[in-house]
Amino acid sequence: MTGPFIITLDGPAGVGKSSLAKRLADRFGIAYLDTGAMFRATAWKLGEGAWEWEALRMETALKELEFSLSGCGAGSVLSLNGVPLTDEIRTETVGMWASNMARIPAVRTCQKDAQRSIGATTSLIAEGRDMGTVIFPQAPCKFFLDADLRERARRRFLQLQEMGRPADMEELVEQIGARDDQDRNRKVAPLKPAEDAILVDTTSLDIEGVFERLVAEVEKRKS
Ligand code: DC
Repeated sequence: MTGPFIITLDGPAGVGKSSLAKRLADRFGIAYLDTGAMFRATAWKLGEGAWEWEALRMETALKELEFSLSGCGAGSVLSLNGVPLTDEIRTETVGMWASNMARIPAVRTCQKDAQRSIGATTSLIAEGRDMGTVIFPQAPCKFFLDADLRERARRRFLQLQEMGRPADMEELVEQIGARDDQDRNRKVAPLKPAEDAILVDTTSLDIEGVFERLVAEVEKRKS
């Protein structure tokens, strides 16, 4: 094989991408790049309302952000300006801020450059919304996961609970639904499957079944 091996994993919020991506990264001994965390960290760092800044202020602020990825598998560490990201960015509020920031072309360009530069030297599984369509269109292995909104909200509910951040289920349905609408309908790099992506509806599948299916597809493309 020449050059890094890239797997892309896209889909809406709460579909189970992160846990599958970490397991795939472990299974294949490659790094895990959580691009949602990059948008979240950007939004968190610049603060509420930054998505309304005028162009020059935004451009200047974006120049100060430097992302790096180290380690491998589920132990991959994404850092912003040398500081590893923490669970502080994992709330639904910061998710919505991230979605607001993600509509801004300058923000996407900055993230695209960072993501491609990481992928140029490192084999990885890249998780996000536009990995297969925009960032790594040449990746040999692309997945797009989907699931019903209510099921996704339930999974996110459990995930937040595990982090010690209890949430309200109905509020989550509303928040995740609104965020998805915004991610699917934005002008730049909207959430959608690449033409050659493998589509998996995970609503009624258990995580093991989905994992084994993805592993088999990667195996086929690796050799
Ligand atoms: O995957 P996540 O929920 O952590 O992502 C947070 C937000 O970041 C998501 O609602 C939209 C944005 N995002 C994006 O626009 N493109 C990506 N590749 C990843 C995330």
